[in-house]
Amino acid sequence: MGVDQYHEPPEELPAETRTFARLCASLEEESQAIGWYQQRLAVEPDPEARSIMADAQGEEFKHFAMDLEFLLRRTPRWRQIAEGVLFKDGDIVEHGEAAEAESGDEAGAAAAAAPDDGSLGIGSLKGEG
Ligand SMILES: [Fe+2]
Repeated sequence: MGVDQYHEPPEELPAETRTFARLCASLEEESQAIGWYQQRLAVEPDPEARSIMADAQGEEFKHFAMDLEFLLRRTPRWRQIAEGVLFKDGDIVEHGEAAEAESGDEAGAAAAAAPDDGSLGIGSLKGEG
């Protein structure tokens, strides 16, 4: 992977942003692994092999969830939108549109993402969640 996960020169990125990018890359990898196991399970006839694959896919579900929780804790607007969409019955798109609208306008989001204190507007894990 190396520096491929960065879209901007890594030396110009704050450590906090590099960590964030690493977890985004990890989230992608876990999601990809979940999809691969789903395909393998769809074609594998051997029950013992299927059992192992299903167990492995469960691990990837856990990894994905942990990566996502980390990213949501560090990104309040993302968390707010996710809370408006996840684990709800009904129309997913409607929930998404409403959650995005409720999360504030673009200017507000930009201000939240780049506060005056030089941080990225992403909170500490302490006392959250
Ligand atoms: Fe994993």
